[in-house]
Amino acid sequence: MNKNFVIAIDGYSSCGKSTLAKALAKKLNFIYVDSGSMYRAVTLYFLRNHVDIHDPKQVEEALKNIHLNFNSRDYETHIILNNEEVSDEIRQMPVSKNVSAVSAIRQVRHEMVKQQQRMGKSKNIVMDGRDIGTAVFKNAQLKLFMTADPKIRAERRYKELKEKGEEITLHEVFDNIADRDFQDTTREESPLVRAEDAVILDNTNLSPEQQLNFALEKVNALINIK
Ligand code: DC
Repeated sequence: MNKNFVIAIDGYSSCGKSTLAKALAKKLNFIYVDSGSMYRAVTLYFLRNHVDIHDPKQVEEALKNIHLNFNSRDYETHIILNNEEVSDEIRQMPVSKNVSAVSAIRQVRHEMVKQQQRMGKSKNIVMDGRDIGTAVFKNAQLKLFMTADPKIRAERRYKELKEKGEEITLHEVFDNIADRDFQDTTREESPLVRAEDAVILDNTNLSPEQQLNFALEKVNALINIK
């Protein structure tokens, strides 16, 4: 086991992983890392620079030119791509439509996992994503696997995007989520799968507060065992 405490949260697209992860990090005073934002920032760079994702040379070259940082002034994700904050742009549809394909590329995953492991070294951390409990932190003290009814997930995400002023239909959001779930669970490299030792959290009918309490109970039980 690591000396530092690692909480790995994995699960399907738009099922509230980041909401729970942020709330946990805040409550426990841990660092929060949204690993999906890293794949999204890489995707944005690839789109802007017309990187052909089927050409390993272009991908490798592009990865050398991508520098990602987080500005951790609060518990929100502020991701900096080559000195530019891109936190809003990475949530928009062009990135959402392409991120699963980009995150399926072995070289991309290799580089992101390396950076993520470095971030969690000797720090108490909550990280959410798709492969955190299965690849990035296999020894995490607590692993949660989140899921929720796809219709509910689409409705929640649609509401969020509308509030941000995005022109989008519920149908488009639903399709994007279904498509990403399919790609993320069927890719060759670290597909989304529940780690054997992960606790399942289906939040279809749970409020954010109930989810936080559920996770805190698990954390407290682990701390009391030690
Ligand atoms: O968490 P998110 O929806 O922002 O993630 C965007 C995409 O990035 C998701 O569809 C799959 C990919 N991803 C991944 O492959 N591995 C992670 N650890 C996190 C995200």
